[in-house]
Amino acid sequence: MAGKNALRINILVVGSGGREHAIVRSLDYFDEAVCLYAAPGNGGTLLEPRTKNVDLEVSDHAAVVTFCHDHDIGLVVVGPEAPLVDGLADSLRAADIPVFGPGAAGAQLEGSKAFAKAFMRRHDLPTAVYEEFTAETAEDAYEFIDQQAGRVVVKADGLAAGKGVVVAQSAAEAKAAVDASFAGAFGASGARVVIEECLQGPECSLLALVDGATMLPLPLSQDHKRAHDGDTGPNTGGMGAYSPVPMVTAQQKEQMVDIMARAAAALVEEGIEYRGVLYGGFMLTGKGPQLLEFNVRFGDPETQVVLPRIRSNLVQLMYATATGTLASSELDIDERPAVGVVIASEGYPGPVKSGKPIFGLGRAQTLPGIEVYHAATAVTTDAEGAEQVVTTGGRVACVTALADTFKEAREHAYEAVSRITFEGSWSRSDIGLRALPQKPSKPQGSPKSPKSQSPQKPQKPQKGK
Ligand code: AMP
Ligand code: GLY
Repeated sequence: MAGKNALRINILVVGSGGREHAIVRSLDYFDEAVCLYAAPGNGGTLLEPRTKNVDLEVSDHAAVVTFCHDHDIGLVVVGPEAPLVDGLADSLRAADIPVFGPGAAGAQLEGSKAFAKAFMRRHDLPTAVYEEFTAETAEDAYEFIDQQAGRVVVKADGLAAGKGVVVAQSAAEAKAAVDASFAGAFGASGARVVIEECLQGPECSLLALVDGATMLPLPLSQDHKRAHDGDTGPNTGGMGAYSPVPMVTAQQKEQMVDIMARAAAALVEEGIEYRGVLYGGFMLTGKGPQLLEFNVRFGDPETQVVLPRIRSNLVQLMYATATGTLASSELDIDERPAVGVVIASEGYPGPVKSGKPIFGLGRAQTLPGIEVYHAATAVTTDAEGAEQVVTTGGRVACVTALADTFKEAREHAYEAVSRITFEGSWSRSDIGLRALPQKPSKPQGSPKSPKSQSPQKPQKPQKGK
């Protein structure tokens, strides 16, 4: 790693969600990032002082490489899984461009559940008992389901935008899920299925920076996947998250860190050069933490609560990860908890109407300890040249509050959320409630005025506001 402040680079961040806005904003705090580009980015990245949105076809690797050369890019951070599975990081590395994100071989840990499960099995990483099946072995799949008395989870092998997993309530439901997958419900991604034992327990995510030999665990987080309060309703991309996760014991955390370290070592052993985030999705079972899945990128919305808690220089950390020099890096973590609440459009996770003007983003951002991360937003300009932020999809923004306690963080986050309005906007009202020492009788309704905080990182004015 170069000496302090020696690093001065332009950075390209690939992606357009709340995760990418959080990455851009965190990088943008540090002078080491000279100029930032987001491809394609969103309304939030566009409003960051030193960030430009660029219209790049990321599946055209040659075009991305050319862009990087033309703009003297010293680091590319790939946010979503699809371009990683597609080998974008390999193409960039072949052109000597440092990339935060694994190549296609490592990305198989997320791109193929069968690959991930076989990897866990080969390296004795604790996970649910499983078998994999194709249409040719459908009868064996039914038999396996019956052997497990129907208490199984059916997973399409490939990427399915978070929709390829069915936690079955009965053998009939499990078999129907298998049939649907083989009938093409998830296209080629569902031609193979993994069927595994259904585990019980709370979930917890451990994201770690991995540069090969070195694994640096980031703070624990937990997301809220279901649409409605009390973890009811359909699964979503995530309606909010919090960090750390008080229910996790020191022993469980140690076990998770050990599993992630063994996973990183196993990648090295298999000759897979992995440089990026390895996301371990765990279930805390009676037999200890078990891996449900690996993701090969930051979680969304976990990133929106994890990154604000990292005080260390993220540019240096990501660059060190990309260049295999993480061993000399240390993490400085803000002990204060973070709660992130997603604001969604009416109808989400189903179809939504876009183009709704959003009000109050600036007012929300001025609250102490608050980060407003855009997700599905864009900035439009009217005939008089006035800028307006509008919605472009389902998960519109994530409001994160850092405070001295979870109670305060929730209050501050919901105060900020109440300031952001657009037609049809809604949020869950119980994000982070599980982290409180005891259950309040009611979900947070009218938050108290926020206590003054001194945020670790200065808040920047937003462009065009
Ligand atoms: P995955 O994409 O594999 O993480 O699965 C998505 C969600 O399905 C997880 O976050 C869990 O809520 C649930 N899930 C996955 N695997 C299992 C399992 N073996 N037992 C119970 N629930 C699971
Ligand atoms: N929030 C879950 C994920 O990013 O996969």
